[in-house]
Formats: sequence, structure tokens, C-alpha cells
Amino acid sequence: MAHWLLIIFLALFHHQAHSQEELPTNYEYYTNNGIVSGLSANQSDFLLNGKNITILSGAFHYFRVHPNYWRDRLRNMRAAGLNTIETYVPWNLHEPYSGVYDFGNGSSDFEEFLDVEKFIKLAQEEDLFVLLRPGPYICSEWEFGGLPAWLLGIPDIKLRTNDSIYLSYVSRYFEKLFKIIAPLQFPNGGPIIALQVENEYGNTWNIDADYLKSLAKIYRDNGITELLYTSDPVLGVGVQGALLGELLVTANFNSNAKGNLDYLKSVQPDKPIMTMEYWSGWFDHYTENHTNNLVPLSRYRTVLEDILSYPSSVNIYMFVGSTNWGFTNGAGDATYGLNNSGLQPTITSYDYDGPITEQGQLTSKFNATAELLLKYNPVKTQLPEPVPALDPIKYNSIEIKEQILLSELIDEYPSKIQSSNIIPMEKLPINNNSGQTFGYIVYRKSQLDLNAGAVLKITGYVRDHVLVLLNGKLLNPILQGISDLDGFGFWRLENSTIILTNETVKNATLDLVVENNARNNFGNLDQFQQYKGLIDNVLIDETILTDWELVPLEFRRSWNQQLKGWHNITNRNVPSLYRVTFNVSSVPVRDTFVNVQFWTKGILIINGFVLGRIFVVGPQQSLYLPAGLLQEGQNEIIVFEHFSAPTHLEFSEEMIYGLHY
Ligand SMILES: *[C@@H]1O[C@H](CO)[C@@H](O)[C@H](O)[C@H]1NC(C)=O
Ligand SMILES: *[C@@H]1O[C@H](CO)[C@@H](O)[C@H](O)[C@H]1NC(C)=O
Ligand SMILES: *[C@@H]1O[C@H](CO)[C@@H](O)[C@H](O)[C@H]1NC(C)=O
Ligand SMILES: *[C@@H]1O[C@H](CO)[C@@H](O)[C@H](O)[C@H]1NC(C)=O
Ligand SMILES: *[C@@H]1O[C@H](CO)[C@@H](O)[C@H](O)[C@H]1NC(C)=O
Ligand SMILES: *[C@@H]1O[C@H](CO)[C@@H](O)[C@H](O)[C@H]1NC(C)=O
Ligand SMILES: *[C@@H]1O[C@H](CO)[C@@H](O)[C@H](O)[C@H]1NC(C)=O
Ligand SMILES: *[C@@H]1O[C@H](CO)[C@@H](O)[C@H](O)[C@H]1NC(C)=O
Ligand SMILES: *[C@@H]1O[C@H](CO)[C@@H](O)[C@H](O)[C@H]1NC(C)=O
Ligand SMILES: *[C@@H]1O[C@H](CO)[C@@H](O)[C@H](O)[C@H]1NC(C)=O
Ligand SMILES: *[C@@H]1O[C@H](CO)[C@@H](O)[C@H](O)[C@H]1NC(C)=O
Ligand SMILES: *[C@@H]1O[C@H](CO)[C@@H](O)[C@H](O)[C@H]1NC(C)=O
Repeated sequence: MAHWLLIIFLALFHHQAHSQEELPTNYEYYTNNGIVSGLSANQSDFLLNGKNITILSGAFHYFRVHPNYWRDRLRNMRAAGLNTIETYVPWNLHEPYSGVYDFGNGSSDFEEFLDVEKFIKLAQEEDLFVLLRPGPYICSEWEFGGLPAWLLGIPDIKLRTNDSIYLSYVSRYFEKLFKIIAPLQFPNGGPIIALQVENEYGNTWNIDADYLKSLAKIYRDNGITELLYTSDPVLGVGVQGALLGELLVTANFNSNAKGNLDYLKSVQPDKPIMTMEYWSGWFDHYTENHTNNLVPLSRYRTVLEDILSYPSSVNIYMFVGSTNWGFTNGAGDATYGLNNSGLQPTITSYDYDGPITEQGQLTSKFNATAELLLKYNPVKTQLPEPVPALDPIKYNSIEIKEQILLSELIDEYPSKIQSSNIIPMEKLPINNNSGQTFGYIVYRKSQLDLNAGAVLKITGYVRDHVLVLLNGKLLNPILQGISDLDGFGFWRLENSTIILTNETVKNATLDLVVENNARNNFGNLDQFQQYKGLIDNVLIDETILTDWELVPLEFRRSWNQQLKGWHNITNRNVPSLYRVTFNVSSVPVRDTFVNVQFWTKGILIINGFVLGRIFVVGPQQSLYLPAGLLQEGQNEIIVFEHFSAPTHLEFSEEMIYGLHY
């Protein structure tokens, strides 16, 4: 009899464990007796609300994904078996100018991407907890590691140290941010279970422990009560960037899980083990072979299983591929910030070769992750079905007929700034004195009388790419491939020179148009090497030039949308803006890619929003254009091209990679 009952009981239990609807949700499981306590690292397992939890998290940066897709991406993360997501918070977008904020309501160019409160609430609606990494420095292959460039205009400031000037700006911003964040913590009914302090601080090799203590205090003083932690590649830097015993130490790596996690255990024997960044793939710098940065499925799977079986909690970085919109890509620096010659800008795409692509497709790494998480998570909860992204479409090719020459744009620019000396863009008296963060700066000098053979010399390094126009004519050689980056016009060459004219010229106008290709985001930022534009001297025949007119070309949305003076194409081989328009007959739901293989260098703007960079060297040869940036009816694409434009604008239904040497 008892035997018979047991069989029925087991059969019922078996049925229940495999029927999704009857399983609790993640939230039901962790909160069914009310909420008593948040995440605890006071013992060798994480406890959430008194129950064991293995944090199974994936990185998803809201500011890098169009908000129309936030819910679908979150649903898919949950479908893979994750119980948590992680995001950084980019200070430089949330406070674009000093004292000016945008949390989804600030009218900046990124407004629609910045409603961090909505994003965190959506994560909870999709049954996920949240790990928040507010920085203030975030690295993330993101422009200046997320620090606002306007900090560079503040005299005597010392970034990422206990400097009181720097900390006063951090506190002012965190006060605003944490007002939004504090109510979203787990004990207050929200999804945030832990927050990171700084980011890979050990990688600076310039450690100021008081700085970390001050940051933690700013968190606490602003209502942050939940677990605080630091994260570092511990086998490279140890715990020099951590506050061992005060903030939980976590590890970042993509191989040797055992070595990394053994190290964590040795320094924190009674604490839970957390892999804060398990790198699912990697990113590309311009000039790099995309294929070489891919991480094969078998290696991804093996290391993930090593982590889960250790056992360790994990955050898979990145889980969701995404985009460095416009000018927001960061850069590495092979000279560790000593000068600009080793700059390595990251590409616009942040696809990352992870479980979900930039366009939202689920990859074989997605399936492998789902299988392993099911196997290793002892807590069985309800999981949704994945929602696959729609396939992208290729719009028809469009003939390019409209142009504005860059020299016309400069001529017409209404309020040029007078400056006796060369100054970098961060020091321009614009934007409520926050200077210029993104885009291009033009240094114009008119009424020049030049001798035949006159030589222009720019001392130091250009930051990062200069176009030289004499009376509107481009003097740079046309960029063909990677080897040209060693030559005139690019960041690698010190004290670069070019002949301005072979004849005598009177009353000439010289324009030096300098593009900011990204500020370094990694390691010791050496702030003094981060200014963009020109910072040294400009000479003609060894005489230093003074009395310049400066023009900031920020390509902000409202400005892009009001550009006037479009005319038929007169010359495809001078720096120019080109425009096409095209119709979308119903509300767009399918993404596309713009094929930029036939352009040389510049930027592409969709309906006023700067989508990304064009750079013939590769590897990125197309730009992801999500449906949410298109509209029903007429759409407008503007390309600013530095060198030479094709006759047509082309689309693609997939990402295109390739290098030109
Ligand atoms: C962990 O221990 C600290 C120090 O004893 C205590 O303040 C904190 O409340 C504990 N955390 C939890 C979630 O129990
Ligand atoms: C958590 O799991 C550990 C084993 O890893 C176990 O020893 C402990 O009792 C569990 N704690 C709770 C509260 O279930
Ligand atoms: C200008 O900056 C100040 C202080 O940095 C700030 O309080 C003010 O709101 C800003 N004004 C505008 C119009 O942006
Ligand atoms: C934007 O939202 C934040 C947070 O909800 C709020 O504090 C701020 O006042 C709002 N700003 C504007 C300009 O409405
Ligand atoms: C660190 O900075 C904070 C805030 O300015 C200050 O209160 C503290 O005294 C500083 N610590 C040290 C050791 O200088
Ligand atoms: C990129 O790397 C792959 C794999 O090493 C190699 O097969 C391919 O030829 C390389 N392509 C270029 C353009 O260097
Ligand atoms: C810039 O860095 C490179 C690489 O370290 C070095 O060769 C060069 O001499 C440096 N230039 C200056 C001006 O320091
Ligand atoms: C992942 O698994 C699903 C369901 O089994 C399958 O339809 C899909 O083709 C798989 N995807 C990849 C990329 O292997
Ligand atoms: C560049 O010019 C500076 C003087 O402005 C000089 O000190 C330096 O040696 C020059 N570097 C090279 C590589 O010529
Ligand atoms: C000057 O003449 C040389 C040799 O013919 C030519 O390569 C160069 O382009 C000319 N430079 C200018 C500015 O016209
Ligand atoms: C010099 O060129 C400017 C246009 O750049 C023109 O307005 C001005 O009349 C010229 N001056 C002379 C003396 O030719
Ligand atoms: C521009 O080109 C069109 C043909 O594409 C022509 O009809 C028109 O007259 C041209 N406009 C000017 C100002 O030359």
C-alpha cells in the first residue's frame, strides 16, 4: 500500500517538476514568505532572503540596445535560465554636460536609451534580478570608460582618485542616480540585489584605497543598502584594486576558471565565489581581423561548465550583443596613455560573439548556456519561451544626389569661436562651459599668404585624424587601407608635415578638421593624454600660427535635422555631407544593415541620430540599423564622408566584415 502511494506521489512530483506552469517564478521562489533580507555574502553561499542562490547573470547594457527591444532581450535571457541581469550605468550619457542630467527625460540625443528606471523595472517584470554597476568609471569599451569628457576641462582634477574635486562631481551625480536606484533595491520590493563599486580598479596600477572607501560611503550615504563588491582580473592584479574584508571581491576572466576561483577562495575562504565577468566572446578594434577575436563554442562551453561546476555564481559578459552608437565607442591604447601614437579605437558594433547577437538572434552559445544552466541550477523555476528576433531586411539601393561640401558648412557656421591659441575641444566655451565631447573640431585660419612649397607642421600627435583643406581643396592622400594610418593625417605620426602649395598663394583659407575617434577606456587613463582635437602647435614654414577661428561640429540631432544648403553633387572627392531619403510604407518592425563598404571614413546619421562610424580599414563594413530608429513614411540618411563617396547607398541583410591593408 505504502509502496503504491509512493509511486503515485513520485509520478505526481515528476510531472510537477517538468510542467512549467506549476513551477514558481523566480520571484515567487525567493519572496513567497515576504521579504526579510537582501543578498548576503556572510557565508560561503549567497543567500537571498534566507534562501541559497547561485547568481546566474548575463550582461545587457540598456544604453546600447534600442528600447523597443529591451523586453524581448530580457525575456530571452530568462528563457536561457538566467535569474539575474547585469548592467553598467554610463555617467557620460546621464550627465552629458556638467549639472545637466538625462534619465530618459533630459532631451539629450540619447534620451530614448536612458530611462534606467524603466529598464530595471522591466527586468523585474521579466522575472530577473539585477546587478548594477554604476562606476563611476565603467571601462566597457565605452568612450572614456563612461567618464564625462567635461571633467577634463576642470582645473587640477585627478580622476579615479580620492581627489576632493573629482569626488564632488561623483557625489553630485550619484545623489541624482541613487535617488532613482535606491527604491529599486530588493528589500524595497525592487530587483537590484547587489552593486559594484568602480571597475577593475586594480588595472590602473595606481591604487588609492581611500578612493574606494569614499565611493562606498557615497553609496551608503545615498540609501544604497545592498551588497557592494568590486571586480578585477584577479590573476593579473590580485586584490590591489579591492577592499578585501569590506567589499566582496569577484573575478573577471575567460579561461582557467579553476585558477581564478581558487584564488578567490584563498583570499576569501568564507565567502561566496562570484565570476563577475565571464567573457563569452570579444570585441574588435579597427584594423583587427574579426575572425581572430571570435571565441569558439567548445571553449565557451567548457569554461562555463568549469565555472558552474566549481561551483561559482556567474555573470556572462556580454550576454546581449549591442552597439556603440555614434561617437560612443572607446579605445585601447598600446602606449598605455603615454602619447596618442598607440590609440586603438573600438568599432561601432559591440556584438561580442556571445549568446545573443547585436541584431537579437540567438546563437549556438545561447543553446549551450540554456542547457548548462538547467543542468547546474538546483532551483527549478518557471522559464518563458524565447522570442526570436525577426530576420533583417535589405532595402533597395538608393542613388545619392544631394551634397553639402564641408567647406560650405564651415563658411556658413554662424558663431565661430575666436581663439588666439590652439585649444582642444574640451576647452571650448560652449555647452554651458562643458566644452565639446564628441565629433569634430575645425581650426580655421584665413588670409594666409603662402610661398611656393609652404610646409604645414603639427607638433605632437593629432587627436585623432586631421583633414587639411586649403581654399576648400583636400590635401590629404585618399585613405586606402591600414598601412596609410602610419602616414600623414592620422594619430600615429609625431610632428607630421604636409606641403600646402607648390605655387605662391595669397589670401588663402586653411581648415584643419580634426576628428575625435574615441577616448581611451582602459587602465590608467592618464587624463592629460585624453584631450581631443589639436593640443600642440601648428606651424607654417616654422612660424607658429595664432588667431584661429574654431568651429565645433558635434553633429547633434537637432542640428543634423535642420541642415540647409543641399545641392546637386559637384565633387565626390572633398569632405562632404551626402543625403538620401527613402520611404518605409508601414511601421518598421524589421532591422536592416547599412552597407558601408564603398565609403572611406566618416559617420552615418539616421533621422538625425548619429548611428556609427565608417572606416574603410575594417573590420566593420556595415552598420546595424534597428527598426526602432526608422519611421513610417520618409526617412533620411546623411553620411559625412572625409575622402571619396560612392554613387549609391546600399543596404545589407547581415553584418559584413573585412579588412583592407
Ligand atoms: C552580513 O553581515 C554584516 C556584518 O555583520 C551585517 O551588517 C549584514 O546585515 C549581514 N547581511 C545580511 C544580508 O544578513
Ligand atoms: C545552502 O546550501 C548549502 C550547500 O551548498 C547547505 O549546506 C546549506 O544548508 C544551504 N542553506 C540553506 C539556507 O538552504
Ligand atoms: C549650467 O551649469 C550649472 C552648474 O554646472 C548648472 O547648475 C546649470 O543647470 C546649467 N545650466 C544649463 C542651462 O544647462
Ligand atoms: C527626470 O527624471 C528624474 C528621475 O525621475 C527626475 O529627478 C528629474 O527631475 C526629471 N528631469 C526632468 C527634466 O524632468
Ligand atoms: C578622501 O576624500 C574624502 C572626501 O573628499 C575625505 O573626506 C577623506 O578625508 C579623504 N581621505 C583621505 C585619506 O584623504
Ligand atoms: C583572419 O584570420 C583568419 C583566421 O586566422 C584567417 O583565415 C584570415 O585569412 C584572416 N583574414 C585577414 C583578412 O587577415
Ligand atoms: C610615443 O609612444 C611610442 C610607443 O611607446 C614611442 O615610440 C614614442 O617615442 C613616444 N613619443 C613620445 C613623444 O613620447
Ligand atoms: C537552438 O535550439 C533550438 C531549439 O532546440 C533550435 O531550434 C535552434 O536551431 C538552436 N540554435 C542553434 C543556433 O543551434
Ligand atoms: C617633435 O618636435 C619636438 C619639438 O616640438 C621635438 O622635441 C621632438 O623631438 C620631435 N620628435 C620627433 C620624432 O621628431
Ligand atoms: C606639389 O607637387 C607634387 C609633385 O608634383 C605633388 O605630388 C603634390 O600633390 C603637389 N602638392 C600640392 C599641394 O599641390
Ligand atoms: C580674402 O578672401 C576673403 C574670402 O576668404 C574675401 O572675403 C576677401 O575679400 C579677400 N581679401 C582680399 C584682399 O582679396
Ligand atoms: C540638379 O539635378 C537635377 C537632375 O538630377 C536637375 O534637374 C537640376 O536642374 C539640378 N539642379 C541644379 C541647381 O543644377
